Amino acid sequence: MKTIVLIGFMGAGKTSIGKILSQNLKIPFFDTDKVIESKMSKNISQIFQEKGEVFFRKLETQTLLEICQNSPQAIIATGGGCIHSEKNCQILQNLKGIIFWLKVNPQTAYKRTQTTKKERPLLQNQKNPLQYIEDKIAQRNPIYQKVANIIIETDKLSFNKIAQKIEQEISSQ
Ligand code: S3P
Repeated sequence: MKTIVLIGFMGAGKTSIGKILSQNLKIPFFDTDKVIESKMSKNISQIFQEKGEVFFRKLETQTLLEICQNSPQAIIATGGGCIHSEKNCQILQNLKGIIFWLKVNPQTAYKRTQTTKKERPLLQNQKNPLQYIEDKIAQRNPIYQKVANIIIETDKLSFNKIAQKIEQEISSQ
């Protein structure tokens, strides 16, 4: 089976869906943010605060490369901003896996990230978080679209249903 890569904005469900897929398909799951956190023994917010975003982005690329080189078959959940780096996009496309874009509209992303805002440094201290999410999604969607092989609209589906859809797509490949 090919490696499955999940891309998409914060709140798209990449981590939750990745875990479900990993359990169902019995292949290892890697979440780049979680790998970074365990490497640094700090959470993502602390890393942003203490070292800055540029440092985090370098670590993100390095981590993505390590995961892709060491795990020929895996489910990989990326951070929402991973696609801003051309190098990251190349790493993902070189895998020759299947890249799923979990598409989410701004209202859903806003709703789903409200309870986990603490884990998401870019959403902290925003005067108008919904506006911020709208702008970022508008900026990123064309890149997600370009990088993805398959698009899944997630707004109206449960995470289990989305995982099911992904499994169907894989088995029809
Ligand atoms: C980011 C998304 C986060 C995390 C970091 C930056 C982004 O991951 O990598 O806070 O730029 O959108 P999730 O998409 O898993 O929340």
